[in-house]
Formats: sequence, C-alpha cells, structure tokens
Amino acid sequence: MKNRIAVLLAASLMALVSAMAGAQTLEDEIRARLTPAGSVCVVGDACASGLATAGGASGSRDAETVYQTFCMACHATGVSESPVLGNVEQWAPRLEKGIDVLYENAINGLNVMPPRGTCVDCSDDEIRATVDYMLESVQ
Ligand code: HEC
Repeated sequence: MKNRIAVLLAASLMALVSAMAGAQTLEDEIRARLTPAGSVCVVGDACASGLATAGGASGSRDAETVYQTFCMACHATGVSESPVLGNVEQWAPRLEKGIDVLYENAINGLNVMPPRGTCVDCSDDEIRATVDYMLESVQ
C-alpha cells in the first residue's frame, strides 16, 4: 500500500513537472512572438530598409506613420509655435493660404518649420499626404 502511494505520488509529481515544463515552453513561445512587435526600426537599419527608399514604389509610408515619426515632435504640442494638430483656430489662417502653399512650405520649410519636417527621405507625395492627414484633423 505504501509503495502504491509512493508510485502515485511520483507519477503525479512527474505530471506536474512536465506541465510546468509545458507552461515554460508556451511562455517562451509567446515571448518570442511578442518580441518583433516591441523592437524599434530606425531608418538605416536593415529592418527599416523598406522605409528608407525615398518615394520608391515599395517605400511609400502612410501619412499617419510619417506624422507620428517626424511631425508629431513639434505639431503635437506646438513647439516653436507650430500649428497644433486638431487646433482649428491655429490652422485657419494657414488654410487661407491655399493647400498648394501649405504643401510647398511643408516641402521646402518655413522659418522654424524644417524642410520636409525633418523627414529628409520623404518624397513630395509623402509630405503632401501627411499635410492632408494633418488638415483632416481641422476640417
Ligand atoms: C522642428 C519642428 C517641426 C517639425 C518636426 C515639423 N514642423 Fe511643421 N511647422 C513647424 C513650425 C514652427 C511651423 C510654423 C512655421 C511658421 O509659420 O513660421 C510649422 C508649420 C507647418 C505647416 C504650415 C505651413 C504654412 O504655410 O503655414 C505645415 C503644413 C507643416 N508645418 C507640416 C509639417 C509636416 C507635414 C511635418 C512632418 C513631415 C512637419 N510639419 C514637421 C515646426 C515643425
């Protein structure tokens, strides 16, 4: 009887250990799957090669990405009196200039506003699309 209990105990202990081992593997697997989402691609890294091609057929970034990567640094909070995203009052006098002037100033720069908003490898089209994206917030 004692032996049986010992065997049962040993068996359930082994089951427990293997269950824990299984859990560990699953956890590792989840961690491995999550890692790429948490890693940051910087222009110039191999992982960002798709981004680095200016205006290339495969290199076009969507406007929100460009905004969040480059423009947000100033336009989210109004650094150096940059018009803030979504602030209708601040954008109104700029909209009066006409969209083409805004595109041009975004591409070439205007006073403190740097050319291409520091996205040096952005194509003209990417900048125009990003200006459109920013203006959507005040229309
Ligand atoms: C270093 C800060 C900074 C960054 C980064 C920046 N801007 Fe600006 N932006 C400004 C400032 C300051 C102004 C106001 C310039 C002025 O009127 O003298 C401005 C103005 C503008 C205007 C209005 C231009 C006009 O004619 O009134 C547009 C459009 C614009 N930015 C688009 C962008 C886009 C698109 C990006 C990102 C690709 C960007 N900006 C990134 C600072 C910045």
